[in-house]
Amino acid sequence: MMIGEWLDIGPVSQISPGNARTLPVVGGEEIAVFHTLDNRFYALVNRCPHKAGPLSQGIVHGSVVTCPLHNWNISLKTGEAMGDDEGCVPTIPLKVDAGRIYLLREAVLGKKAA
Ligand code: FES
Repeated sequence: MMIGEWLDIGPVSQISPGNARTLPVVGGEEIAVFHTLDNRFYALVNRCPHKAGPLSQGIVHGSVVTCPLHNWNISLKTGEAMGDDEGCVPTIPLKVDAGRIYLLREAVLGKKAA
């Protein structure tokens, strides 16, 4: 993995706590960036592992998002479905530095369709 290959996607203030925004990826899958109520940030591919629901429109609680379609709970840390549900959505490494959000470029671009 290359060090320092981070994409600046803008200030943390663009996402209020408990919300998410989406980030289109040319030639790849849309990414959802979440801001939790305890002020953490996570990024996942915006596609529920169940039936591809838009996780960005789900309810954020703790470090979990509840899918808006059928209420699966997805861990924002691991992308895995919780409880009895099974499935996993790719997570995108994210860091916050000096009030800006960065995503690992390789992980974003690596989501391109083959
Ligand atoms: S599509 Fe997310 S729970 Fe069914």
